[in-house]
Amino acid sequence: MCGIFAYTGNKGKDAGGILLDGLLSLEYRGYDSAGIFTPESGSIKTPGAVAELRKKVPKEFAGKSGIAHLRWATHGEPTEKNAHPHSSGDGEIWVVHNGIIENFKELKHGLEKKGHVFLSDSDTEILPHLVEEHLKHTKDFEKAALAALNELRGTYGIAMQYKGEPDKLIAARMGSPIVLGLGNGEHFIASDPSPILPHTKQVVFLEDGDVAVITPEGHGIKKLDSSNVSRATTEIDWNAEEAQKGGHEHFMLKEMMEMPEVVENTLRGRLIADKGLAKLGGLEEVAKQLEGIERIIIVACGTAYYAGLVGEYMLEEHAGIPVEVELGSEFRYRSPVLNQRTAVLAISQSGETIDTLEAVREGKRKGALTLGIVNTVGSTIARETDAGVYNHAGPEIGVASTKAFVSQLVVLALLAIFLGRQRGMSEKQGKEIAKELKALPKKIQSILDKHTSVEALAKKYVGSRDFLFIGRKYNMPIAYEGALKLKELSYIHAEGCGAGEMKHGPIAMIDEVFPTFAIASADAVYEKMLSNIHEIRARKGPVVALATEGADTRVEELVQDVIYVPKTIEMLAPILNAVPLHLFAYYFSREKGYNPDRPRNLAKSVTVE
Ligand code: M6R
Repeated sequence: MCGIFAYTGNKGKDAGGILLDGLLSLEYRGYDSAGIFTPESGSIKTPGAVAELRKKVPKEFAGKSGIAHLRWATHGEPTEKNAHPHSSGDGEIWVVHNGIIENFKELKHGLEKKGHVFLSDSDTEILPHLVEEHLKHTKDFEKAALAALNELRGTYGIAMQYKGEPDKLIAARMGSPIVLGLGNGEHFIASDPSPILPHTKQVVFLEDGDVAVITPEGHGIKKLDSSNVSRATTEIDWNAEEAQKGGHEHFMLKEMMEMPEVVENTLRGRLIADKGLAKLGGLEEVAKQLEGIERIIIVACGTAYYAGLVGEYMLEEHAGIPVEVELGSEFRYRSPVLNQRTAVLAISQSGETIDTLEAVREGKRKGALTLGIVNTVGSTIARETDAGVYNHAGPEIGVASTKAFVSQLVVLALLAIFLGRQRGMSEKQGKEIAKELKALPKKIQSILDKHTSVEALAKKYVGSRDFLFIGRKYNMPIAYEGALKLKELSYIHAEGCGAGEMKHGPIAMIDEVFPTFAIASADAVYEKMLSNIHEIRARKGPVVALATEGADTRVEELVQDVIYVPKTIEMLAPILNAVPLHLFAYYFSREKGYNPDRPRNLAKSVTVE
C-alpha cells in the first residue's frame, strides 16, 4: 500500500510544492522511501519519508505538473534506486505505482531481450519501459499506455507522465484505489482524497479496469479495451484526517475493513490451487535446506506470538514438523538447544521488535536457519533472517495489530502447504486447503458486513470489569488474542484461557457479572466446548459464543448471545474467528470513550527491551 499523488495545472509553476504537501497527508500509507518528478526539474528520490525528500528537493523545484510517491515496499529493498518514480530507458516516461505486478519477471525478461536495461529491483520499473516500447510503434502516449497496461497481471494504482506531453497525466486502477480531483484549471490523481481536499472537494473514484487522462482543463476515462466510460463526480465533505481513514472513525476500523483485500494480497501469486501447492518466492533459496529441517521454533511477541501458536497447530498437523513457540523476550535467556537442523521462524509485523530480533540473532549464533514472516520490507528482522515471506498487508497504523495478524495466519497456512507438500501432504489435501484459503476474503467480508451487531454486543457488555475468553485447539490462541485486544484497548481485566484449563483454576472467577466469550466452532472439540459452556452457565456466568453458521444450534440455547461466522476448515477457522473479536475490542474501547488507535502506555513498535 503506497501513496500516489500527481498534479497538472495552469496556475503557476509550483507543482513541486503542491506535490510535497500532498505526500505529507499520504504518509500513513507508506514511509520507507519517497520520490517526485516534474518534467521541468527531473526526479529526486530518497529512502525515508517526506521530511527526507523535502531536505533533498531544492526550493526552486519548478514544474506545472508532476507525479510523486511514497513507498511501502513489496519488491526490492526500500533504497533510493527502488523508490518511485521509475522511468523508461530514454527518460521520457515516468511512473508511480501502488500494487504488485505479478508477471513482471516474464515482462522484464522480454524487455531485456529487446535491449532494455533496468536499474532497480522493483516490479514497477517494467511499466515505463513497456510504454516506451509501445510508443515507438504507436507514437501516441495514450495508446502506448493502454497497450502496456493490457499486458500487466496483478494489482495496480498508477499515475504516469510523458515528457513529450507534460500537461497530460494518465491514471489507471486495477485493485489499488485511485481517485481523480477535479479543480478549476487544475486536476489531480491520488490514492485517496486526502491530498486533493485542500484544492477541491470534487472527486471521481476510478473503478477496476479504468484508465483516465487528466489535463489542467479536464478529464476523460476509458476502459482497458479503449471504450469510453463515465464515472460520477462525488463531492467529499470529509476533512483531511477523515480522508486518510477512508471516512472511518479510526485507523483500526479501516484496517479491519481492509482484511479481505489484505488476505487477497497475501495470497496473490502464491497458490497453485489446481496442484495444491504453495509458491513462496522468499523461501526458494532455502527450499532444499528446509527439506532437512527437523524442528521449527517460532519466536514472536504479543499478537504475533498468538499467530505463532496457531501456526504450531497448522504446521504439526499438516506438515508433520515438530514446532515450539517461544516468546521473543524469553528465548535468549534460556539456553535454547539449536542446531543446523532447526529453523527459527520470527513473526513480526514491524520487523523491528527488539525481543524477536534478539531471538533471531540467538538462533543465528547457534547455527539455526533463520526465517521471517514480516510485514515491513527491509526492516531489521527481514534483513537479518536467512529467508522469509512478506505479508503484503500494507502499513498498519493502529497500535492494535489486526489486519497484520490475519495476514500472518494466512502466511502460516501457506507455509503449512509449502512444507507439507515437501513432506508427504497429498495433492488432494493441498487442493482442499488452497480452495478454502481462496474463499476467505468473501467470508471475512460477510463477517465485517455484520459489524453493527458486534457493536451492539459491545454496548451491551461495556459495563463489565472482567472478561474471560475460552477456546480449544486451533482456537485457544484466538481466545488469548481476544483477551489481549480487549485489555490493550479498554484497560479492563481480560483473560484468555484454554477451555480445558477452566477447571484448573479460572472457573473460580465466574459469577453472574463475569462474562465469557466462548469460541465454539463446529470442529473436533465442539462437544467439549459445549460442556465448558454448561459449566460456566451452571455458575450463572453470562456467555457470548462464537459459533459456525449452518452448524449445530445447541449452543444458541445455552448462551446469552451468539455471533455466527461462516464455515471453513478447522485450521482456517482462527482467521475468521479473529475478526469479530477484533471488532468487539474496537467497539468496546470506543464505547468506553477511549481512542482505539492510541491505547495508553503502548507504542506500535517495541524497539527497547
Ligand atoms: O511488530 P510486531 O508484530 O513484532 O509486534 C509485536 C507486538 O508488539 C504486537 O503484536 C502487540 O502485541 C500489539 N499491540 C497487539 O495488538
